[in-house]
Amino acid sequence: MSRVKVIAGNWKMNKTPSEAAEFLSELRESVKDIKNDIIAAVPFVCIPAAVQAVSGSNIKIAAQNMHWKDKGAYTGEISGGMLKDLGIEYVIIGHSERREYFAETDETVNLKAHAAFEYGITPIICVGESLSQRDAGITAEHIRIQVKGALVGLSAEQVSSLIIAYEPIWAIGTGRTATPEQAEEVCSLIRETVRELYSEAVSEAVRIQYGGSVTAETSSVLFSMPDIDGGLVGGASLKVKDFTIIAGYKK
Ligand code: 13P
Repeated sequence: MSRVKVIAGNWKMNKTPSEAAEFLSELRESVKDIKNDIIAAVPFVCIPAAVQAVSGSNIKIAAQNMHWKDKGAYTGEISGGMLKDLGIEYVIIGHSERREYFAETDETVNLKAHAAFEYGITPIICVGESLSQRDAGITAEHIRIQVKGALVGLSAEQVSSLIIAYEPIWAIGTGRTATPEQAEEVCSLIRETVRELYSEAVSEAVRIQYGGSVTAETSSVLFSMPDIDGGLVGGASLKVKDFTIIAGYKK
């Protein structure tokens, strides 16, 4: 089965709404002939400007987080309903920075994944090991636990449509990209875990990205690996030229 590659930019806490609009107006021209799926995950406050700037283009807008409740006394939080109303189609869930700095757990990741589907938003679920876990030889075990925890109670149809991003923490923002073999090994393990939990068909449908210091130089070898269906790109997604090269991957 051939899966369509999906390349997402995770802007993290970068760009103001006006900067986002300007950047995306340039990017939409630059990527207009690319056939891969292209996503920009922008800060909450940039969403209205971003959705407007990419209207009618091949770029989709994602949020970088959401709460699992519909509404209520959760000061500072944003619900799936609010995001859907703004035109959001994807949401990053469980990024390692959220797990590390904002106490996200496999359990809250799972709650958020369910909530995203309730609003017709596709989750991009992040998993990844720390350097000490890799050095201790427990990467596979850790990744399996994260994947299983994230997917609890989701249907085969839901899992077939979502995206899992493998982002080794030691590779994020460090300039130390995983080798294509290291990335493939874990992405293939994620697919195997999905096969065990669901079926061959679901595991062949789910798209798995690699993220962690992806650059215009490293992306094509990574994306050519059999179980890597694209990338979740941080730093390099903030530059039109670099992100266009990365998103424009061709076999
Ligand atoms: P960098 O590409 O900057 O390493 O960030 C990766 C990442 O965390 C994307 O979600």
